Amino acid sequence: MSSSRALLTHLTGSAAVNKKMFLHLLWSIPLWFLYRWVKETRRVSNKEHRYVFITGCDSGFGHLLAKHLDQRGFHVIAGCYTENGEVELKKISSERLSTVHVDVSDSQSVSKAAATINTLVGQKGLWGLVNNAGISVPTAPCDWLTVDDYKQMLSINLFGVIDVTLSLLPLIKKAKGRVVNVSSVFGRISAFGGPYCVSKFGVEAFTDSLRLDMVPFGVKVLCIEPGFFKTNVSNQTIVGNCLKKQYDKLPQDVKDDYGSIFLETMVEEMNFRFKLLTDPDLMKVVGCMEHAIAAVHPRTRYSPGWDAKLFWLPLSYMPSCIVDYLLLINYPKLKISEK
Ligand SMILES: NC(=O)c1ccc[n+]([C@@H]2O[C@H](COP(=O)([O-])OP(=O)(O)OC[C@H]3O[C@@H](n4cnc5c(N)ncnc54)[C@H](OP(=O)(O)O)[C@@H]3O)[C@@H](O)[C@H]2O)c1
Repeated sequence: MSSSRALLTHLTGSAAVNKKMFLHLLWSIPLWFLYRWVKETRRVSNKEHRYVFITGCDSGFGHLLAKHLDQRGFHVIAGCYTENGEVELKKISSERLSTVHVDVSDSQSVSKAAATINTLVGQKGLWGLVNNAGISVPTAPCDWLTVDDYKQMLSINLFGVIDVTLSLLPLIKKAKGRVVNVSSVFGRISAFGGPYCVSKFGVEAFTDSLRLDMVPFGVKVLCIEPGFFKTNVSNQTIVGNCLKKQYDKLPQDVKDDYGSIFLETMVEEMNFRFKLLTDPDLMKVVGCMEHAIAAVHPRTRYSPGWDAKLFWLPLSYMPSCIVDYLLLINYPKLKISEK
């Protein structure tokens, strides 16, 4: 009798301890978020002495980021692909901002830009590099493309990132600065054919290895993985026209496998998905880029966009059979599978 009473006392005692521990844990979650929020609000000082180079400033995120960091007081060096891009940016920015022509797929152009940047930054070194330039076409089923289509996109989206980074790394080390690579959620999950996902998976791998290698030098390497946002990269007309062009180039036997309805349905399906997922608020991405450059404690990864946070990233952790099932639900029917 006394031993069962002792057991009961022990059990109620340990239930009370468990409840206390649970309450402590419950309290520590909002406290942790508060601590993280306070830590992340701190920004670096002396912005007027810090130089940031951004590639692909003619349009989209790069253009907006150049404008934004210029307003925040940084010395922005905007890498533009076109002369028009340089003129348009200069019209709307302060005298601190300078532009440099750069084609990231051309090593000579990258070396020339690096030499100009070296002269501009002098002994201060380069505080930030944002590897933003990128393209999204050609995108099509894998067997609609040639190896040259892959090489062309990789030369911008992947080798461009590597070339620009390696060319500027001595200046970034000098400033104990930052490299911010613009990847995509499609660097975490491969949801469609063609070189885009291949290039972004490559950017993720390069970012991860560079991050480790740069720790001893005090250089931070960070990654932005946006979902769908309304820019040229996600432009329905550009991607739709590319699909049609690639289909027209196919040999007749491959066209017969897919059937004429396939292309039509695929374009319709793509338009529906883009309309549903594409976010017009580019500042969500630019805010993350600014944080990566200006925060004292930046995050290693940023995933702006509700589709990235709620759909693509959770999906990337699921087993392949579930991923394949979900991604193939609305995939257009091929003529060959009806035979
Ligand atoms: N929008 C999205 O949904 C999304 C999602 C995830 C990731 N991203 C990534 O975000 C980055 C920026 O793209 P965005 O969405 O802002 O589209 P965007 O407006 O097309 O910006 C890309 C920029 O790169 C430039 N560019 C193209 N080829 C180049 C080259 N060879 N050398 C130097 N610059 C070149 C483009 O110049 P021109 O305008 O003169 O061609 C343009 O200014 C890309 O890396 C993209 O993959 C975008």
